[in-house]
Order: sequence, then C-alpha cells, then structure tokens
Amino acid sequence: MRNKVSVIGSGFVGTMAAQRIAEKNLADVMLVDIIEGIPQGKALDISQSCPLQEFDVNIKGSNDFADIQGSHIVVVTAGFPRTPGMTREKLVLKNGTVVKSVTEKIREYAPGCIIIIVTNPLDVMAHLAWNISGFSESRVIGMGGVLDTARYKYFLAEELNVSIRDIDALVLGSHGETMVPIASCTTVKGVPVSQFMNKSRIDAVIERTKKGGAEIVRLLKSGSAWHAPSASIVVMVEAMLHDSRRVMPVSAYLRGEYGINDVHIGVPVKLGSSGIEEIYEIDITDEELSALRESAAAMKETYRKLKIL
Ligand code: LAC
Repeated sequence: MRNKVSVIGSGFVGTMAAQRIAEKNLADVMLVDIIEGIPQGKALDISQSCPLQEFDVNIKGSNDFADIQGSHIVVVTAGFPRTPGMTREKLVLKNGTVVKSVTEKIREYAPGCIIIIVTNPLDVMAHLAWNISGFSESRVIGMGGVLDTARYKYFLAEELNVSIRDIDALVLGSHGETMVPIASCTTVKGVPVSQFMNKSRIDAVIERTKKGGAEIVRLLKSGSAWHAPSASIVVMVEAMLHDSRRVMPVSAYLRGEYGINDVHIGVPVKLGSSGIEEIYEIDITDEELSALRESAAAMKETYRKLKIL
C-alpha cells in the first residue's frame, strides 16, 4: 500500500509541495482547499504531467476534508501570506482562525497522522495545532528551520563562492523576526566558518538570512516564496516516510530543553517514521542561547494575542 500525504491549501506553497511529492514518487497526494475547483484543477494538471515526469502516485483535489482519511502526514499551508513590509507575526489572528478550523478537521478525519505546519507565523500555529489536535508533541511539527537553514547556506555559499554541498549550518529559533542563525555551528567542509570569513561578513549573511523571506515578498510585491518552502516541506516528508532519521531544525514543543518550556520553537531534531524522535540539546554560545530564549519569549507573547480567538 502506498503512503498518503494530504496538503491543506492549494496556493503556491501547497501546490508546489504536492507536485514535488508526486515527482519524487513519495506518496499519493490529496490536495484540499475550500475554494471549489482549484484543488481539483491543479491536481488534474499535475496528474497530466505524470507521463512526462514519470511518476506513479495519484494526486487528487478535494473540497471535502473527509478525503484526508488514511493520511500518514497532513501538511497545513492554508492561510494568508504576508504583504510587503509586514512581519509574519502580524498574521497571527487571521491565520489562527484558519489553522484552528483545519486542525479540528484533521483531528476528526486523520487522527493518526503527523501534522506539518507551514502557515505563518508557523511556530505559533504549530503550538495552536498541537493544542487543538491533542496529538503527542512528536506528531505536530513546524517547518521553519529547514527553510531558514537552506537560505543561510545558500547565502554563505554565494558569499564564499564555494559549492553549497560543502556548507553545513543550522538556524534555530522562530521562523520570524527572532530567528537565530548559529554561527558557531556553521562549517565549510567541517572547518569553522570563522576561518573563511571575518565576523562582520558572517553577521551580514546572518542579517540577510533573517530577512530572507521578506526580501522575496518585497520583490514579488504580492504573495510570498514557494519554491524553497515547498522543497523544505518535502525534505521533512521524505525523512518521515522513509524513516531516514535525518537531523534537521524544525519547530518542536520544548519541555525544558535549552531552559525553554511550553513553546514550539526551532531546534535540531531527529525525524523518523513517528515524527520527532529526539530533540538535541546542543552546545551553542551564551549569546546564541540567550537569543534562542528571547525568541521563545517572543512566541509566548504572541500566544497571548491568540487567546483572543
Ligand atoms: C517564507 C515564508 C514561508 O519565509 O514564511 O518564505
């Protein structure tokens, strides 16, 4: 029997994630949206590329949440993107309403699945979905660090003019204004990046990374990024469906790790078939640790706004 992944929201991120999952033959895909015709039309279009891209999995579209039954993973992309100049955090009330109702449907129709939250502000939305679903914390995961780390690595490779394959790096904290790129864990072929760049160059790359999503929003003028976000989703989906136990930063529920409690925030984890199988508490500098704690405190502040729901 094939695996099944449902993607909620047939905007650019959701549709591209569905397409990437299909093209990698990872799972049958159910694309769900409340707008009539859009998920069906997009699924049909992707399906018609299967003779050319040579995939065997099925991709269907639906407006009915009952069709997510049997999903191993449900990816939530539904909601509003930010506009130029807007922070992700500003979307909290609008998208909180969407994520709340979507999670209720997931709880009803796919109670055994793993949820990946992509809707922004995604750390807060992951916490909300975890609360509403009643799922164990290993099964509600925010996609953030994978994307932020990809951007950081890309900017580093570009700045150093070396292959991206030789860069290893980690971005922790929220997928938002308080993101924490970890310079102390950044290496080029295993050698600390500080041997290749001085602090001010590293800091410039870190600043660009923190604004990586906003730079694209500003260029596009309407909507936000979808190529790298969808690729990030698929890396997580693949690690779980293949039980490959890859280590990557995701937004996870913390119970005292890094001195942080009761918050979803980006930390390094092991991803396998049961979701988050381990949270790693790695050594980072005091400065990075306090930035991570500040990021967690900012998330708690945002939860308070959400209580208005
Ligand atoms: C971005 C969105 C996914 O960073 O938050 O592009």
